[in-house]
Parts: sequence; structure tokens; C-alpha cells
Amino acid sequence: MQRPVFAANWKMNHGPTEAREFMTSFLRYYPRHSDRQVLFFPASITLAAVVDALKERTDIRVGVQNIHWEDKGAFTGEISAAMARDAGAHLALVGHSERRHVFGETDAETGRKVAACFRAHIVPMLCVGEKLAEREAGETESVVLRQLRAGLADISAEQVAHLLIAYEPVWAIGTGKTATPEDASRVHQVLRAELRALAPDKYSAIPILYGGSVNRANATQLVIAPEVDGVLVGGASLDAEGWAAIVRA
Ligand code: PGA
Repeated sequence: MQRPVFAANWKMNHGPTEAREFMTSFLRYYPRHSDRQVLFFPASITLAAVVDALKERTDIRVGVQNIHWEDKGAFTGEISAAMARDAGAHLALVGHSERRHVFGETDAETGRKVAACFRAHIVPMLCVGEKLAEREAGETESVVLRQLRAGLADISAEQVAHLLIAYEPVWAIGTGKTATPEDASRVHQVLRAELRALAPDKYSAIPILYGGSVNRANATQLVIAPEVDGVLVGGASLDAEGWAAIVRA
């Protein structure tokens, strides 16, 4: 198995001051571990503070939570992948469920954003996941495959091999309801099979993370489940000690 990925999605939490305090204690609790990868996705306005706090810790990578698909222009309030890269981001979340369902981001837009990441040499983490009604209607597979195909539609097979995927069932995000490790494994297998068709040589090395109410109590069971290569964590990544406990486990 490849080394597991522990990704913190801070959403609209932690400004620069809180982020600096967080990093001071987090780095005390989390010395370098070469057998796992830790990622942070702070708010864009907090990115510089996190990049600065991690300048001695190149083992930890930082990304943004969203980018625009254009490289520059009159898009008030947006940031481009190139700007994020210039500010020290190595990655970007694309198609997080809150972008899709709160802000109306479409499948086609996620595809354009993934392509924009590659133009700017940023690694996209494409998020997919079904809503509760879709799950209850037996549509989980078709929804995540539709989102995966659309998200990867504008890039080459070579590029597909250099991104990350996060499966985050919408009904599990911030609700305290987690998919069981078996549920997660089953959907990850479906995604893996599709990645195999898209990138036959490299599909097995593409990390597929699980996200949705991951916490200290359930993280380890999820990370060791078959086909689960790591976790994308919101609420439980906001407290330095608790997050360090998850990534150290
Ligand atoms: P949660 O969020 O861990 O708070 O459920 C996960 C996410 O949205 O990435």
C-alpha cells in the first residue's frame, strides 16, 4: 500500500492568527513521519500564514479549497490556480460538495478547474459524492462515476495519473454519520475501476481518500480499509491536538 494521506479541509475557519497558533501546537505534536502525507487546505486568505509556518516542514503540503477555471481576468472575488501556486499552494480541492451544492458548481466547471490546475502545475484533489436521496435511490455509483468522468474530461491520461480523488458522500459531511469502511471500500473500488480505464498504467497509484465525519474514533478503521488511501477531514481537523492525534494514529 502507498503511504496514507491525511488532508485537513478547514473550510471557512481559522484566519491567519488562529492558523499560526494552530501550527505552533500542531508541529509540536506531529514530528516528521515519512510513512504518511499530511495536507492542509486553509482558506485562501490564510494560505500565506500556513505556508510560512511550514517553511521548515517541507514534508507537509498546503493547498487551496477552490480556484477559478480561467487563468486571470475580471472575476471579482475569485483566485486562479496560478495565483494559488505563486502564494505557495501545491494543491487545490475541486468540486467539494459545498462548492457543488451550496454554490451551484456544475460537473462541467469541475472539469475546467481540474484542467486549470494542471496548467498552473497544481495538483487537483477532485471530490465526488452522492446526496442522501441519490444513495437511497441506488444511484451512488452512477453519480460518482458521472462526477469523476466530468471532472477528468479535459485532461490527458498522463495527467489523470497525477491527481487525487476524494469520495465524500454528501450525507456524511458534517453530519456525524460516517460511511462504514465497507461502504467506502465499495465505492472506492468503483472509482478505481474507472481510473483503470482512464489511466491503465498508473491507476493503482492514484490516492482515493474518504471524507465525511471522519474523527479520532473512526479514522484508523477507514484508513486501513481496502482501497482507502487516506482521509479528507473537516470538523475534526480544526483542533491542533485532535488533528495531530488522527494523523499520528
Ligand atoms: P467533515 O467534512 O469532516 O466535517 O464531515 C469533510 C469535508 O467536507 O471535507
